[in-house]
Amino acid sequence: MVRLQTRAIGDVRVSAIGLGAMPMSVRGHMPNGAQSIRTIHAALDAGVTLIDTADAYTPDHTAIGHNERLIATALDQWGGDRDSVLVATKGGHTRTSGGGWDVDGRPEYIKAACDRSLKALGVDAIGLYQHHRPDPTVPYEETIGALRDLLDAGKIRMAGVSNADTAQIRLANEVLGGRLASVQNEFSPRFRASEPELSLCAELGIAFLPWSPLGGIGQAHALGNRHVAFAEIAAARGVSPFQVCLAWELAQAPVVIPIPGASRPESVIDSAGAAGLTLSEDELAGL
Ligand SMILES: NC(=O)c1ccc[n+]([C@@H]2O[C@H](COP(=O)([O-])OP(=O)(O)OC[C@H]3O[C@@H](n4cnc5c(N)ncnc54)[C@H](OP(=O)(O)O)[C@@H]3O)[C@@H](O)[C@H]2O)c1
Repeated sequence: MVRLQTRAIGDVRVSAIGLGAMPMSVRGHMPNGAQSIRTIHAALDAGVTLIDTADAYTPDHTAIGHNERLIATALDQWGGDRDSVLVATKGGHTRTSGGGWDVDGRPEYIKAACDRSLKALGVDAIGLYQHHRPDPTVPYEETIGALRDLLDAGKIRMAGVSNADTAQIRLANEVLGGRLASVQNEFSPRFRASEPELSLCAELGIAFLPWSPLGGIGQAHALGNRHVAFAEIAAARGVSPFQVCLAWELAQAPVVIPIPGASRPESVIDSAGAAGLTLSEDELAGL
């Protein structure tokens, strides 16, 4: 088995580059089931030991858990050591009949969503359970209190939050009694506004998982054209601009673990290579 550079989420070591599984459940983008399984297996065979998913990653609201079930199937069919893989899922986002997104941060909803994710993933405990997005109608401490209860009940091994600002990160860590393991916020060359949250995570030793690290589904392919400095270093190094982008994110702090999305094996194999790419101080200064 290939061994990539590892980083920590709580007391678990995972590959420094994870797999974002969302593109395999997005209407209009998703591949057929066989290609999705091949993509997940390609990630695992390349040494990726972190897969990010969510109950709400589904082509439509009638198939909540689509992406989680896909991952469970891929792991069942994989010949490697599935205990070496951390599957991180999320709850708190809902899907509407028109294909839109909503939130529900009520503690009773979060607990029911977690039970549904346990079933979809086919596990007794979820490795990392992340609250997906704050619900402005529910006090944040009440929502995060549900995560604390799930931790205490042993239904989840680690707790994380997503789309949280610095005050919410501090509050979540307090409610969880210092057990906040991860923060997942958007961060990429085109979206750098979450630098304060990244810095706070580095200070507190909490894993920071950049989402849409390449600019997002449907936009990632243009990375090299939109951010020429990344393309220039990539050309000089003989690697893809995607690898340079992910290596730049890894260089921001030792707590950073990007989760690039993929629906093709080629994408994930290339992205995994970023775990072995170290950029020089000069190169980083130019980015
Ligand atoms: N917490 C949140 O609110 C939130 C929001 C959005 C996303 N996320 C998570 O973050 C993950 C990543 O974000 P994302 O998927 O939206 O966007 P992304 O990672 O910025 O871009 C994904 C796209 O990049 C392409 N790609 C990836 N690596 C490549 C490579 N090495 N070479 C060429 N193309 C490459 C993939 O193409 P192919 O599809 O052709 O393989 C994929 O469609 C998601 O999968 C999801 O798990 C979380």
